[in-house]
Amino acid sequence: MFPIHRPRRLRRTDILRKMVRETTLTPQDFIYPMFVVPGKKVKNPISSMPECFQESIDEAVKTAKEVFSLGIPAIILFGIPEHKDEKASSAYDEKGVVQQAIKAIKDALPDLIVVTDVCLCEYTSHGHCGIIKNGKIDNDSTLEILALEALSHARAGADIVAPSDMMDGRIGRIRKVLDEEGFSDVIILSYAAKYASSFYGPFREAAQSTPAFGDRRSYQMDPANRREALKEVALDIEEGADIVMVKPALAYLDIISDVKKNFNVPVAAYNVSGEYSMVKAAAQLGWLNEEAVMMEILTAIKRAGADIILTYFAKKAAKLLQ
Ligand code: PBG
Repeated sequence: MFPIHRPRRLRRTDILRKMVRETTLTPQDFIYPMFVVPGKKVKNPISSMPECFQESIDEAVKTAKEVFSLGIPAIILFGIPEHKDEKASSAYDEKGVVQQAIKAIKDALPDLIVVTDVCLCEYTSHGHCGIIKNGKIDNDSTLEILALEALSHARAGADIVAPSDMMDGRIGRIRKVLDEEGFSDVIILSYAAKYASSFYGPFREAAQSTPAFGDRRSYQMDPANRREALKEVALDIEEGADIVMVKPALAYLDIISDVKKNFNVPVAAYNVSGEYSMVKAAAQLGWLNEEAVMMEILTAIKRAGADIILTYFAKKAAKLLQ
């Protein structure tokens, strides 16, 4: 073949490389995760996630304005409630911190897409994503609470609800309640293939949702499994998911690629807290170039097949892309 074929010809100059580039990031690819807490003028740094904060609603509105002005179309909200109990009753409180944050942000920015994480782990006293019965995470009774939670988010004005609990049948249950209550336009972004990953460590500090006992392996997926992700995604689409997500992203690029090849709905990927913190820590030590590594990671997630990337880097990357 050589010397006829010289692939380096197309790499000679920057403009040539740009012309033949297969994957291009834009700020529209991103969803920015935010943590809301009760109170006013609260902006608590999250120590394991530099440049990320727990914010009261007034501060969250300011951040949301900045996010939107950068060309990022959406945020995802996580709530840290005042009150946690066995039954996660704050999860569907009309006056809960997430419900109020949705209203305040939609009032200020009607066009910003507001996504909400639907899960019980931030609201249960034990930190598990479901209701406990006889020492086990009970699937079917959890579905009823998740339905109430999703409905309360829709009533507050959420555009997209994103169930992250990994209970069986939650997508169908949530779709049913939303349709019955007149929210047939509310989109479901399902955390369809969510793995029991150690990369969520920093998030659990941020959301105060570390399980008080045991772990999440009886509901989240085994990191060793690949075919099972296709089964989870197929079930969620059948039950009515509009967008499906793979989480985490970086150690799961094969899963993102499989999901993209096998289904025809938009694919999201969650570049999770631990993936963010690793880059931040190495950069602080001077071991990595943060901006270059960030762009490489985000590009790789998109190249693997993600249409949408949830990332704590969203603001920083959008600024660089502008
Ligand atoms: C709630 C939830 C988690 C994350 C998103 N939603 C934590 C978990 O499942 O333990 C993790 C996000 C991140 O690490 O950035 N279930």
